Amino acid sequence: MVRFSPTSFLGALWTAFATVSIAHSKVFHIPSALQNGTSVAQFTASSSGLDGLMVEPINGSAFDWWYFDVVSTDPSMLASVVVTFFASSQPAFPLLDPADTITVARIWVSYPNGTLWEATANGEQGATVTTDGDSSCGDWHGTGFSWTSNPYTREYVINIDAPAAGVKGTITFPSPAPAHYPCGPVSAGQNLEVGPHIGWANAVPDSSAVVNLEINGAGLAFTGTGYHDKNWSDQPFTKNVASWYWGHGRVGPYSIVWFDFLDRTGTEFVSAYASENGRILAASCAPGSISVRPTGVNATYPPVISSPVPTGYTITLPLENGEGTLAVQVNVLSHLISPNPEYARLIGNLSAELVQPPAVKGGKGKTATLTGMALFEQFKLTA
Ligand SMILES: *[C@@H]1O[C@H](CO)[C@@H](O)[C@H](O)[C@H]1NC(C)=O
Ligand SMILES: *[C@@H]1O[C@H](CO)[C@@H](O)[C@H](O)[C@H]1NC(C)=O
Ligand SMILES: *[C@@H]1O[C@H](CO)[C@@H](O)[C@H](O)[C@H]1NC(C)=O
Ligand SMILES: *[C@@H]1O[C@H](CO)[C@@H](O)[C@H](O)[C@H]1NC(C)=O
Ligand SMILES: *[C@@H]1O[C@H](CO)[C@@H](O)[C@H](O)[C@H]1NC(C)=O
Ligand SMILES: *[C@@H]1O[C@H](CO)[C@@H](O)[C@H](O)[C@H]1NC(C)=O
Repeated sequence: MVRFSPTSFLGALWTAFATVSIAHSKVFHIPSALQNGTSVAQFTASSSGLDGLMVEPINGSAFDWWYFDVVSTDPSMLASVVVTFFASSQPAFPLLDPADTITVARIWVSYPNGTLWEATANGEQGATVTTDGDSSCGDWHGTGFSWTSNPYTREYVINIDAPAAGVKGTITFPSPAPAHYPCGPVSAGQNLEVGPHIGWANAVPDSSAVVNLEINGAGLAFTGTGYHDKNWSDQPFTKNVASWYWGHGRVGPYSIVWFDFLDRTGTEFVSAYASENGRILAASCAPGSISVRPTGVNATYPPVISSPVPTGYTITLPLENGEGTLAVQVNVLSHLISPNPEYARLIGNLSAELVQPPAVKGGKGKTATLTGMALFEQFKLTA
């Protein structure tokens, strides 16, 4: 017999709230096997679920992955870490190593002296991603790699306990800069395509991240500029991309993220982001909202497979409300994966000036030179 008591009344209330909160939460089970049938990709934002699975099922043309990195903010150190949770078919993204599973976790490290280390954990038991609002948790079963995030503070934490891969520890991403989509701040109805059939959602454009790892028994600890995004498609990557420049960094007080790429028809697509102290200063995919071009002796634009990696890039990033234009120089310091013709992942130092139009009242012209660090990549997939 049910007896009415304050406790059970509160319990019932609590259950009601819990049900509401479960209604905002969604659980995705991702099988480790490639699926047959038709993949459906989401390319328009809902009111929540920014960091969920965006293409289902993962068939032989589809990919979806959760990407995290940290690059040391100390320019005298070449330390970085990249962790990617893949749910990707290898035919859809040919730069992946062939594996008998699609739920793969991978970590790449550069030590302070620039030496590289990496490990891969193939998950044979699939993966689970749970969203709560715009935050997410992910567990790549059997790999020892997982992440959690807090829907209120938006802090992300990667937990690694992967003895077979020789690595354990945590990477924490506290108080992220405001999230964004390719064409603007987070809101329902936003376009999620950074280019044709390339979905992109950037949950953590910047965070003062803390890396605490133990690799083959030796510690690797540093703080840096942390980042997390996800990208997905229902079509093979090479069908839609000829070349691209992507990167993120912090220069002076500004958190910046850049995307500038050419599709197979030569059409340029861009996405610009800048924020300062939790305030978005640029978030746009309009043509001209950012420009990224190679610089130095080996600069070739547009780049093709045979083009060498340039020594740097120049980025022009206009801020909103006439707050000026960030003129950023990127200088390549070191490679994060062994060189290959199609793809380079790099770290480098940044210098920037905020250039204000003379007409701006109180405009300062050019500000003092700002400096910082960045992690960035380039693809070139056509001859
Ligand atoms: C997909 O189809 C092939 C051929 O019919 C079959 O061998 C395979 O088991 C199927 N995969 C799944 C995940 O159902
Ligand atoms: C996967 O699904 C897409 C539809 O989104 C379809 O165009 C494609 O042919 C499918 N790929 C495979 C390998 O079945
Ligand atoms: C770089 O640092 C790593 C980790 O401390 C060490 O194992 C490696 O021997 C160093 N490499 C060089 C060339 O000093
Ligand atoms: C997804 O984004 C990450 C970082 O933004 C990048 O390293 C990776 O190459 C992208 N992959 C695809 C398939 O879009
Ligand atoms: C320019 O590219 C050539 C050919 O790949 C290479 O040998 C040379 O080292 C590069 N120069 C610089 C400054 O990176
Ligand atoms: C990068 O650092 C080097 C060494 O301190 C410096 O000479 C160079 O000007 C810096 N480049 C940029 C683009 O900040």
